[in-house]
Amino acid sequence: MALKDQIALITGAGRGIGRAIARRFAAEGAAVLLTARTATEIASVAQEIQLAGGRAECLAADVARHDECQRIVAAATRLFGRVDILVNNAGMFGPVRPAQEITTQEWNEVLAVNLSSAFYLSQLVLPEMCARSSGAILNISSVAAKAAFGLNVPYASSKAGLLGLTRSLAAETARKGVRVNALCPGPVAETRMSKELGEALAERAGVDPSEMFRQFLQGILQGRAQTADEIAAAAVFLCSQEASAITGQSINVDGGMSFY
Ligand SMILES: NC(=O)c1ccc[n+]([C@@H]2O[C@H](COP(=O)([O-])OP(=O)(O)OC[C@H]3O[C@@H](n4cnc5c(N)ncnc54)[C@H](OP(=O)(O)O)[C@@H]3O)[C@@H](O)[C@H]2O)c1
Repeated sequence: MALKDQIALITGAGRGIGRAIARRFAAEGAAVLLTARTATEIASVAQEIQLAGGRAECLAADVARHDECQRIVAAATRLFGRVDILVNNAGMFGPVRPAQEITTQEWNEVLAVNLSSAFYLSQLVLPEMCARSSGAILNISSVAAKAAFGLNVPYASSKAGLLGLTRSLAAETARKGVRVNALCPGPVAETRMSKELGEALAERAGVDPSEMFRQFLQGILQGRAQTADEIAAAAVFLCSQEASAITGQSINVDGGMSFY
């Protein structure tokens, strides 16, 4: 088991990619604390994991708020004693409109959920990780951090910001036994975020969503979307000892869509 006896805190674990990461981490032997705002979703994922013989707890919280992040890390310490692995996965796409039509409030919300949360939680878990000379942080960024798509300025900015956070934190903690990496998934078609985005883009363009998505996939070497399980498999690797020499990196899990 790649994550035997590890304690993992996973944000946005109620559905989509976060749920897949939580299930996979638990199957690899980690005890997981699941968090998101929708209590019923995280409770259901925790139950799935427990029924499969894994160890899972959940806590409903809004990661955009610093006080809620403090509450999450306090709960992890109370329930499990420590955090060995932090996966900053919670995210929102935000407005699908050109930059000049985006309000300050919308900009601030996307940056808070996608970027500030990762900073807050990292800041909260790092002192103990550094004291123990052991820990892994994984930030779920996006191909949007590297490619040039329109109609996603707050999202792309937040996801590119996560890569800066990843590298800078890695530099600060590499000699203290902590590794910090990022994953950049391509389109994971099965998730709510992906479906809502596809519909919004197609509506703006006045075209059929499935035909638009089919054409989009042609720009990927493999010509297909990724699955949440494929993202989770890469997450297990980066958070395991198999990746002991990997830090400060952003790994594309996008079927061959971006190349740096
Ligand atoms: N799907 C894709 O194609 C794709 C591609 C590249 C990157 N990603 C990234 O992968 C991550 C997961 O995306 P997904 O596709 O799985 O999306 P999703 O199905 O919409 O899930 C997003 C998760 O984040 C949680 N969340 C959102 N805002 C939150 C907040 N303020 N506080 C706490 N939790 C919050 C949601 O729960 P609540 O709403 O209950 O809070 C949910 O559990 C995101 O960071 C996304 O940007 C996705």
